[in-house]
Amino acid sequence: MSTKLCALDQLVDGEPLRVELDEIDIAVIKVADAIFAIEDVCSHAEVPLSDGAVSDCTIECELHGSRFDLRTGKPTGPPATRPVPVFPTSVVDGHVFADIS
Ligand code: FES
Repeated sequence: MSTKLCALDQLVDGEPLRVELDEIDIAVIKVADAIFAIEDVCSHAEVPLSDGAVSDCTIECELHGSRFDLRTGKPTGPPATRPVPVFPTSVVDGHVFADIS
């Protein structure tokens, strides 16, 4: 199911945008020409990843410093060991959509 997340012009490079949907919260992140959508919950202790810092294709949780690859959701730095769901994105008519399924 393709879900509209935000307008493309709401995104600032490297600054996560938290989008609250009915069932799930998503962090939308633009890095250069790529747009990533990752569930906005750290798999370590359930704080919003959107409060963290982005570097290249990695987001770092602000609480304990776990790092996640925005392309896969896999942890690339401790203490988190479990991945965070990521969702494919697309841009249509200036809006960002994600396949949340
Ligand atoms: S809550 Fe994210 S690393 Fe601990």
